[in-house]
Amino acid sequence: MSDKRPVVIDLRFARESVVSALHSAFKDRPVIDMGDPTNADRDLSDAEFAVVWKPDPALFQRASGLQAIFSGGAGVDHILSAYELPDLPIVRFVDRSLTDRMSEWVVWQCLHHLRNGSAYAGQQRDRIWHEIADQPEARDVTVGVMGLGVLGADAVRKLKVMGFDVIGWSRRPKTIDGVETFDATSLDAFLGRADILVGLLPLTDDTRGIYDRALFSKLRPSGALGGPIFLNAGRGGSQKEVELIECLTDGTLKAASLDVFEKEPLAADSPLWSMPNVIVTPHAAAASDVRALFRHVEAQIARLEAGNPMEFVVDRTSGY
Ligand SMILES: NC(=O)c1ccc[n+]([C@@H]2O[C@H](COP(=O)([O-])OP(=O)(O)OC[C@H]3O[C@@H](n4cnc5c(N)ncnc54)[C@H](OP(=O)(O)O)[C@@H]3O)[C@@H](O)[C@H]2O)c1
Repeated sequence: MSDKRPVVIDLRFARESVVSALHSAFKDRPVIDMGDPTNADRDLSDAEFAVVWKPDPALFQRASGLQAIFSGGAGVDHILSAYELPDLPIVRFVDRSLTDRMSEWVVWQCLHHLRNGSAYAGQQRDRIWHEIADQPEARDVTVGVMGLGVLGADAVRKLKVMGFDVIGWSRRPKTIDGVETFDATSLDAFLGRADILVGLLPLTDDTRGIYDRALFSKLRPSGALGGPIFLNAGRGGSQKEVELIECLTDGTLKAASLDVFEKEPLAADSPLWSMPNVIVTPHAAAASDVRALFRHVEAQIARLEAGNPMEFVVDRTSGY
């Protein structure tokens, strides 16, 4: 019997994957799975670690002996904004697979807009054989990535491989080979160069509602794609959806690909579902692989127990 204190799991997604992944995880300590109804009233005061995604708000009072909290996803806004959190390290999820999946989504959507994916899908539906003339190449198009963290840095690299001209924006100055970068002080200069804007920002007090009409109006209007295109796979709380819809209607934006929304699931009556210039994916750009999540948590606990600092600890002041 392990003498280690339990890890409490309160992950409100992919229930079957959580149950399956728990069969082979945390072999050296007890697990309290809050998805199991028999644990509903269990005393949690002995739990040492918590792995959470949108957990029960009472969890952090009940689990009063925690040493660290692990987010079940790359973002931590789901706990930072909604709970009175104890003053403990919060570790976010960083994983190769999640990063690769996000870059796939970004490259897929950029290529979709570059190669007239929606127009050709419509032509196929109507059995129209017509080649759209004078399509620009990737090198003619500047993709501006907002957020150059784990996900943004990988996405810019893969967009470069596809031939796009790539620029990036982050809070602090950054150097990335072959990519012109801008920091928080030069947002307007960055926007004025972008034909496709890619949102890969975390949701914080500074980034809430950042994608609004004023921002969209600063994108390059006269680029090779015939109008600016907006992609968002960061967080929906960063976009002002009413203004986004207006901009997609009046031509301020030519098109958009959206994986995240102010309110999820996206309401059935949202105009975004049926706008011909909008691609909607259901917050599916880069799902957390639960097995990889548990491996990551085990690795960070092992670091802590060996006296090493944990990685990917959130800076509570900046909110990511
Ligand atoms: N749709 C999905 O399926 C999905 C999946 C996973 C993650 N996400 C979202 O993607 C986000 C980014 O993930 P990540 O792992 O790349 O995060 P990260 O490594 O923490 O990087 C965040 C980046 O955003 C920049 N940033 C933050 N606040 C800023 C501000 N106020 N102004 C300018 N730049 C700012 C940071 O700048 P510095 O470099 O200067 O710190 C950094 O470059 C997550 O927080 C999550 O919300 C979505």
